[in-house]
Amino acid sequence: MLQMKLCGDLVLREKCAPVDTIDAEILQNMDEMVKMMSAQNGVGLAAPQVGVLKRFIVMMNPDTNKVFKMINPVILSRSSETVVMEEGCLSVLGGDGLPVYANVTRPAVVTVEWTDEKGKAHTAEMSGLPARIVQHETDHLDGILFVDYLSPVKREMVMSKVRRRK
Ligand code: NI
Repeated sequence: MLQMKLCGDLVLREKCAPVDTIDAEILQNMDEMVKMMSAQNGVGLAAPQVGVLKRFIVMMNPDTNKVFKMINPVILSRSSETVVMEEGCLSVLGGDGLPVYANVTRPAVVTVEWTDEKGKAHTAEMSGLPARIVQHETDHLDGILFVDYLSPVKREMVMSKVRRRK
């Protein structure tokens, strides 16, 4: 049974190791992560958020409800055009136990390469919500949280809500 790791847990700040073999444990972890994500109405979850320091993520395209399991995802290119969107994270919860949201500026379009759960390689250009989610989730694999992109004042607004969670 995997446990959700919350902001303040140093496991969220580690750099994850590449996956070299897609074994039963990783497949099981990804299945469980999809369930955890759906149960909390999330649209993405990265391995370190459940304490696993390996490079894999799960995400959902909210427009189609299609679930992606991505192993060793790499963002190959990012557009110079950026877009502001509201982000939250299942590891960054406020006093009410719900994600704390903040606006984050990121590239609008990205090209992503990954291996799926069957070992098949994919490359895709993503925009809109999928681009946003895949950037947020791959950041987790390098120990980066969305709050890192906020101004000190905005970050403190988020963190003061996080600290209300006991
Ligand atoms: Ni997150």
